[in-house]
Amino acid sequence: MDTRVEIAKGVVLKNPVLSASGTFAYGEEFSEIFDLSLLGGIITKGLSLKPKKGNPCPRVFETTAGMINSIGLENIGVDAFVQEKLPFLGQFYTPVIVNFFGNEEEEYEQVAARLDVDGISALEMNVSCPNVKKGGIEFGKEPDILYSLVSRVRSITRKPLFVKLSPMVKDIREMALAAQEAGADALTCANTIPAMAIDETTWRPVLGNITGGLSGPAIKPVALKLVFDVYQCVNIPVIASGGIATYRDVIQFLLAGASAVEVGSASLRDPMCFISIIEGTAAYMKEHSIESVAELTGKLII
Ligand SMILES: Cc1cc2nc3c(=O)[nH]c(=O)nc-3n(C[C@H](O)[C@H](O)[C@H](O)COP(=O)(O)O)c2cc1C
Repeated sequence: MDTRVEIAKGVVLKNPVLSASGTFAYGEEFSEIFDLSLLGGIITKGLSLKPKKGNPCPRVFETTAGMINSIGLENIGVDAFVQEKLPFLGQFYTPVIVNFFGNEEEEYEQVAARLDVDGISALEMNVSCPNVKKGGIEFGKEPDILYSLVSRVRSITRKPLFVKLSPMVKDIREMALAAQEAGADALTCANTIPAMAIDETTWRPVLGNITGGLSGPAIKPVALKLVFDVYQCVNIPVIASGGIATYRDVIQFLLAGASAVEVGSASLRDPMCFISIIEGTAAYMKEHSIESVAELTGKLII
């Protein structure tokens, strides 16, 4: 039985389970709980060119079936990451994939250029960010804007480039194709869904930023459909993100077309869930005599 997955040229995961960006910070806290070398890969908190403070508190709210966050992409900035956090991550035997973003195309290019260093296996671009120069419309919402952004970043870096798609689009297949044509090596499907919470006792929004992004079990069926749609139209690997909490979720996303999965909100509730998900996936494969993860990817019977 082989749980390995090659997610891009030269990026081999020992199992298909990655940490999601933003719920794993830079790995330090989780490393006190389990050996990070057990993970298929580590995806770090989204980085910008300069350190970013994020949104006013409160920034997280637990919903009936998940959570809403409005962290506002708080991070230490790309240079501090490379100097202070990357050496720490280097001690683990697992690929480090760095998530990043920008407010304009030039910022994406500048961050990507600074991440073209040893110790980073791949980059994951968060394109659910407002394009300051184009009136604030998200990069990931228009195929031509996304194509232009991904092409520019592609030409800047030698690293495998993953594009993390936004779920809030007219047709995610258009966005997936635009990213693939622009040179993406894999697509992450997908980011959080815009949401809000209101306190009926104060008549006020719960979150300091008023709105945020919904994640967790509530979005799993939506993410499954997005992965299913994207898998049908591209020929690069799809990485699933949205509500994955158990090995059963992993198998379902693989069947829908994913080659690997990211675990986010579930790990805030139970940091050890990574281990049970990895072990459960391997046990499922053994029980069903599945010799490689690729035997499950896209094998939904219709
Ligand atoms: C607290 C928090 C912070 C996040 N920060 C980022 C980020 O910096 N960059 C990014 O691309 N996605 C970020 N995300 C989105 C997650 O990586 C993931 O795509 C999303 O939460 C759906 O997966 P889940 O249901 O397993 O949490 C964040 C999510 C949460 C809950």
